[in-house]
Amino acid sequence: MQLLNFLYLLASVQPILATSLINFSAAAGDNPSTLGILDLEEARGDKISSNIADLYAKLGTDSKGTAALHYHRKEGYIRAEYHALSNKLEDDKTYYIGYKFSLGVIEESLMIFQFKAYEGNDATTGGANIPLSLEFKSGQLHFQYQADYSAQREPQWSKTLDTDTVYSAGIVIHTGKPGWVEFYFDGEQQTFSTSKSTKLVANTWDGRNEPKFGAYRGEAVEINTYVYNVQIGTELSDIEEAAGLTSSAGGSTSTTSATSSAASVTATCSWEGHCAGASCETYNDCSDDLVCTDGACASP
Ligand SMILES: *[C@@H]1O[C@H](CO)[C@@H](O)[C@H](O)[C@H]1NC(C)=O
Repeated sequence: MQLLNFLYLLASVQPILATSLINFSAAAGDNPSTLGILDLEEARGDKISSNIADLYAKLGTDSKGTAALHYHRKEGYIRAEYHALSNKLEDDKTYYIGYKFSLGVIEESLMIFQFKAYEGNDATTGGANIPLSLEFKSGQLHFQYQADYSAQREPQWSKTLDTDTVYSAGIVIHTGKPGWVEFYFDGEQQTFSTSKSTKLVANTWDGRNEPKFGAYRGEAVEINTYVYNVQIGTELSDIEEAAGLTSSAGGSTSTTSATSSAASVTATCSWEGHCAGASCETYNDCSDDLVCTDGACASP
């Protein structure tokens, strides 16, 4: 009887614990490593293991002084991304991914989200390399789908965006071959131009598929992009904030002005505990533009 009660309790608690897989907020000062593996590449195949001044992803502020995970790449460098949930996703499951971001620049072939296949993406198995992606082409952000190894990434939805503007994306992926996807932008569910529906039947599982957030390609220019929230879970409610699904997302004028004046005061250090004087081992440990000099964060 005691054991049975315990098992009932466990069964009722487990789904709640399992639901939110990632909940990153730059405003809350969450360590970016909660997003997974930092993936930095100067040229293709030329990886570096931690942040440097010309290539990084670390907590800082956007151009308006709002706390953000700042991805920075020197012109010519190819990749600054976080690779989330390595070896954690499964076939025949529904995952909700919320992503709040802004762009310092919009550049041809800049990809800001990938649902990348790490297995089965070869000629023999026939899976796509990047089944789903958000990529800029001809000045517009495209939600793209690549069906298999030999297929192109085909636009399913497109929108013209502005720089220095915060956008929210919600990507719902049911893993499978085929599975399906749904897409929210700025809190509104979108219709795919190809399926003429809010649902797109798609091959979303090649054996090991995982999300990546940041900046890939678009290497003709210097890139700065900013990520405010990433939420991944197994229910729509898990991504409310990052996908902009809450009606109060805008906030009132009074709180906005209070926030911006507070932010401007602290703009040079948005990552508490990693400000000037804090101990550090590398540049990565220091907020914003601070550098690590003789074991302490300091102005560059
Ligand atoms: C995510 O974290 C925030 C705190 O930063 C918390 O308020 C919120 O409830 C969390 N959301 C989920 C879905 O766990």
